[in-house]
Amino acid sequence: MRTALVTGGNRGIGLAICKGLARADHHVVLAARNQALGQEAADGLKDEGLNVSSVVLDVSDPQSALDCAAELKAQRTAVDVLVNNAGVFVPGSLLKDPDPLGQSIAVNFLGPLNTARAFVPDMMDRGWGRVVNVSSAWGSFDEGLEGTPSYAITKAALNALTVHLAREAGPDVLINALCPGWVQTRMGEDSAPWDPSGSVPERTPEEGADTAIYLATLPDGGPTGGFFRDRAPLAW
Ligand SMILES: NC(=O)c1ccc[n+]([C@@H]2O[C@H](COP(=O)([O-])OP(=O)(O)OC[C@H]3O[C@@H](n4cnc5c(N)ncnc54)[C@H](OP(=O)(O)O)[C@@H]3O)[C@@H](O)[C@H]2O)c1
Repeated sequence: MRTALVTGGNRGIGLAICKGLARADHHVVLAARNQALGQEAADGLKDEGLNVSSVVLDVSDPQSALDCAAELKAQRTAVDVLVNNAGVFVPGSLLKDPDPLGQSIAVNFLGPLNTARAFVPDMMDRGWGRVVNVSSAWGSFDEGLEGTPSYAITKAALNALTVHLAREAGPDVLINALCPGWVQTRMGEDSAPWDPSGSVPERTPEEGADTAIYLATLPDGGPTGGFFRDRAPLAW
């Protein structure tokens, strides 16, 4: 049985990814920055008979990622699949706000790097791994870098990080990014004013989780260093 760690697993798309991977016969490590919220979410999935445990992980803190990896290693839990789902959407002006990018860089960009540094070298040593970076079409130049600047810029950077991590990790550890679509979560609702149509998010968290689960369960020899939506390649 593979073990999958999902960051920001306590709610939204992350929780749906946890549920989907557990149903697909994974031991899921639900990672959350708040211990009580993570425990509560994991207990809810365990009540459904799923194989889920929880850990504390604030992705913006490199030491938190290393501590999490050490804690799991002490439990003899090897992480085969890393899903970098945690993210923030921080509206604001690049020119007028005092720190327009700080939190978004820390969570959306450096977060996946912190966790990759904590878990990918071990995957490479063991000769198998999958990393899934939950990005956004708003980080795609091809789709116009839409949305609030801090979000678009850090998701574009996450896409670039995905390419380079995949190059460094080699063929045994498949590393891909995806856009889940516009999803009914706290973030999806909060980002609604940025949508030109002013309509409501179109997808359930379960629908938003589908491509992440697809990429987390790619067969050997599958794509790496790519960007996907609805299981199909998406232009950068
Ligand atoms: N919803 C959409 O329409 C949409 C569209 C495209 C891409 N996405 C991406 O999908 C991912 C999940 O989004 P969502 O819609 O499910 O958002 P959400 O409901 O707002 O959930 C965000 C999750 O990230 C966690 N998080 C934030 N900062 C963190 C940190 N420093 N360390 C660890 N966890 C942290 C939150 O934890 P707390 O509960 O502790 O705050 C929460 O679990 C994000 O990467 C987002 O950018 C979403």
